[in-house]
Amino acid sequence: MTEAKKTATLTLDGKSYDLPVLSPTTGPDVVDIRKLYAQAGVFTYDPGFTSTAACDSTITFIDGDKGELLHRGYPIDELAAKSHFLEVCYLLLYGELPTASVLEDFEKTITRHTMIHEQMHNFFRGFRRDAHPMATMVGVVGAMSAFYHDSTDINDPRQREIASHRLIAKMPTIAAMAYKYSIGQPFMYPRNDLDYAANFLHMCFAVPAEQYVADPILSRAMDRIFILHADHEQNASTSTVRLASSSGANPFACIAAGIACLWGPAHGGANQACLEMLKEIGTVDRIPEYIARAKDKNDSFRLMGFGHRVYKNFDPRATVMKQSADEVLELLGVENNPLLQVAKELERIALQDEYFAEKKLFPNVDFYSGIILEAMGFPTSMFTPIFAVSRTVGWISQWKEMIADPQNKIGRPRQLYLGETERPYVDIEDR
Ligand code: SDX
Repeated sequence: MTEAKKTATLTLDGKSYDLPVLSPTTGPDVVDIRKLYAQAGVFTYDPGFTSTAACDSTITFIDGDKGELLHRGYPIDELAAKSHFLEVCYLLLYGELPTASVLEDFEKTITRHTMIHEQMHNFFRGFRRDAHPMATMVGVVGAMSAFYHDSTDINDPRQREIASHRLIAKMPTIAAMAYKYSIGQPFMYPRNDLDYAANFLHMCFAVPAEQYVADPILSRAMDRIFILHADHEQNASTSTVRLASSSGANPFACIAAGIACLWGPAHGGANQACLEMLKEIGTVDRIPEYIARAKDKNDSFRLMGFGHRVYKNFDPRATVMKQSADEVLELLGVENNPLLQVAKELERIALQDEYFAEKKLFPNVDFYSGIILEAMGFPTSMFTPIFAVSRTVGWISQWKEMIADPQNKIGRPRQLYLGETERPYVDIEDR
C-alpha cells in the first residue's frame, strides 16, 4: 500500500475534513475516503464507479486517453506479437516473465489439469441442446465446487494455486464441451501433445471419425485472441469476481459469477452482439441508417463493439485484432468477407462523425473479434465463452491478489436512500 504524500480538503456544513491523497506508480491520484463516513457522516455517490478506485492492484494498467494497456508493465501489442497465452498467464499470475525452464514446468502443469472429472460430463446432459453455451459454462464451472474440494480452502496458498491452475486448464475443455453438446457431437478429450490454443481448436472441431490438425496460423490467431482478452483492470466481471470473493466464497463459485457478468451485451456479450449487428446491417449502403440510429437519443440502439468506459482513444486490442482479422481472412481466402467490409466502412464513417468524436467512441476489443471467430468456424454463441476462457486468468490473478492482501475485507457499498421514511403497518381492511 502506498503512503499519502498530500491531502485533499472537503468543506461541508462549515467544517473541513482533510483526506489523504494516494499516488500510484502511474495514472491518476486517488482521494482516500475510507474514513470519510466516520469523520463527516456522509457517503460518496458514484453508481457505475466512474470515478471510484475499488482496490489497489499491480497487475494491469490502462491509460484510456493514450489507448495504452500494460500487463505487469508490458504493452499488450508487444505481448500479442512476441509472447504466447500461457506465458501471459504466468506473467499475470506471478508478476514476471518466466525463464524457459519455469515456463516449461508451468505449461506441463496446466496441460495435466485440462481433463475434467468424468462424472461432470453428466451435467451437460441436463441442459437443452439449444442452451446458450454461456448458460452451460456458468452451471458447470459453478459445479466444480462440488468436485474439487481439495482446492476450495482460500486460506491455503497451495490450494489457491491448484484452483488457479485447474480453472485456467479446464475452462477451454468446458467451453469446447458446451459447444460440442450444442451441436450434438461427441466430446473430444484434451490432447497433451498440443499447445493451449491448438488443443482448444482440436476439442472444438475434431471428431472421432477422422484426423484433425489445426492450421498453425489459426492456432496462432486463436492464441493471440486469448492474449488480447486475458485481463483488463477492474472491469465489470473482474469486479464481480472480487466482490464475490470478498465474502470468502470458493474460487469456482466466484469465477462462475464472473462468467455470468461477462455474458451481458454491454460487456463480454458485445462480441456476439456486434457480429449480429454487422449481419443486420448487411451491406455498406445501410450503414448511414444505423449510424443515425446510434446517435438517436430516442433509439436504444448502440453500435456494438464501439465505446468504452475507460478508453477515450483506440482500444489497443482492437488495433491488433483488426490486423489479425486481415491475416486470418486472407489465409482462409475470404478477405472479401462482406462483414469485414461492412465493419471497416462502419469504423471509417463513425470515426469521421462528430457525435462519435465528441463522445470519444472508438472500436473496442469486441469490434473485430467476432469476424475472426466466425471465419474460424465458431458460431456467434461461442464468442463470449471464448472471451471467458481467456479472461479466467485475469479473474484468477486479480482474485489471488485480493485474497493475499492483508487489507482484504468484505465489499459492502452503501446507498443514497430515496424511499419512504418509517410508517405504521396498515391492515388490509383499512387500505
Ligand atoms: C468490454 O470495462 C472493460 O474494460 C470492459 C472490456 C474488458 O476487456 O473487460 O473492455 C470488455 O466490455 C468492451 C465494451 C463492450 N461493449 C460494447 O461494445 C457495447 C457498446 N458500448 C456501450 O454500451 C458503451 O460504450 C459501454 C458500455 C462500453 C461504456 O458505457 P459507459 O462508459 O457507461 O458510457 P455511457 O453509456 O455513459 O456512454 C457515454 C455516451 C452516452 O451518450 P450521452 O448519454 O452522454 O448523450 O456515449 C454514448 C452514450 O449514449 N455511447 C454510445 C455508444 N457507447 C456510448 N452511442 C452509440 N453507440 C455506442 N456504442
